[in-house]
Amino acid sequence: MNIKVIMIGSGGREDALARRIKESGGTIVSIMTNDNPSIRSMSERVHFAGEDEVEKIVDIIRDENPDVVYVSPDSFLETAIVDKLEYSKIRVASPSSRAFKIESSKIYMRQLMKRYGISGNIKFEVFDSEYEAGKFLDDLSREFAIKPAGLTGGKGVKLTDAHFRNREEAKEYAFSIIRNDRKVLIEEKIEGEEFSLQAFTDGTTLVFAPVAQDYKRLLDGDEGPNTGGMGSITDRNGSLPFLKQENIEKAKDILAKFVKSLYDDGALFRGVIYGQFMQTMKDVKVIEINGRLADPEGINILTLFDGDICELLMSTANAELLEKKFRFRKVASVVKYIVPKGYGYNPESTTLKVNTENLPGDVRIFYGSVSGTLNEVETTHSRALAIYAEGETIWEASEKIEANLWRITGEYEMRHDIGSKKSLAKKVEYFTLN
Ligand code: AMP
Ligand code: GLY
Repeated sequence: MNIKVIMIGSGGREDALARRIKESGGTIVSIMTNDNPSIRSMSERVHFAGEDEVEKIVDIIRDENPDVVYVSPDSFLETAIVDKLEYSKIRVASPSSRAFKIESSKIYMRQLMKRYGISGNIKFEVFDSEYEAGKFLDDLSREFAIKPAGLTGGKGVKLTDAHFRNREEAKEYAFSIIRNDRKVLIEEKIEGEEFSLQAFTDGTTLVFAPVAQDYKRLLDGDEGPNTGGMGSITDRNGSLPFLKQENIEKAKDILAKFVKSLYDDGALFRGVIYGQFMQTMKDVKVIEINGRLADPEGINILTLFDGDICELLMSTANAELLEKKFRFRKVASVVKYIVPKGYGYNPESTTLKVNTENLPGDVRIFYGSVSGTLNEVETTHSRALAIYAEGETIWEASEKIEANLWRITGEYEMRHDIGSKKSLAKKVEYFTLN
């Protein structure tokens, strides 16, 4: 579809989206923070602006007069950009700030679940008093997760057993959140295997993508701190080897119920809704709900999407989504992120050389938070390059990535075990033994 799309965002997920827009015959004008060389090479024009420049961004978009706008990163979705575009009658395939509250306030999300009886909720408490929070944590016999309500890039959540040496440290963390944000969310800690389910929605219909899993921990074997996501997997059947089909159906029902409840609560949700779920021994629980594509899992599903992405964006924005019309290719896929040295602790920006000569058709290299050229990138402190591969099986795709690592030179870190046979076997075993 030959339309003009304005895309806000300049990471790996947005590179994957831009490639599909180009393939579908669309024209891209991008608004970026870092000068992503891949997105730049596909854009008619590039503008630079950060999330604190709302008026500037809205003026650029009004002048460009696009057919549709896609606002991708959470930091931009939290602002009034989409609200102002709606007011100016400009078509947008992303949620308003009111609908995005489902991600920007974890407290709102939990309370919405409670008010509308959405299944998969867990025990939670909200405190605005240090005294009450302290008393609650003192009396705890089980482990809990302590969270700020707002956006944290996956890094603000701490678990009472994993992150603190003792109760006092946990209390101090909860108090510091109250001092900063006035409120803290304390949730029961649940155990199991996490999975990500993403769906495009126009506020009524949902088009579900294959289920993905993000490898959040920094190091091989799921060691080290949580990160924004070191890589991700999807399988050819749309499920994952360790998931029960009935749990995927439950997760789909939960996401659909969220979209409906948001509407009943006065906010039409339009764009991508992405649920982070946990399959426990008995059930499915909601860890968090996001109002955008996941990164890296968004890279998997965008690349697997089988159709015209411009049409998908237009129908999302126009409230004309037809579930049956959109499909995803039935192959397995893996993403592994190349990150700067020290990522997760004390990252150092660096230069990486990239060789894409004769890149096999089922392997792709997406550019993340980098600038420079397609052959030589300067990293920021964030994730740099996403290497993607497809295969008949997840582990085969994982090995294809390893076989193409010679293409990247420089000092970097990554996880090699994403989608490996050993890693998958461990996850399957967990549910057969327990
Ligand atoms: P969130 O930003 O809420 O997705 O949290 C980041 C990560 O912390 C999740 O992906 C989980 O791995 C972990 N986490 C968050 N909440 C809980 C919880 N209630 N129980 C166990 N783990 C959690
Ligand atoms: N994959 C983690 C996130 O996008 O929040």
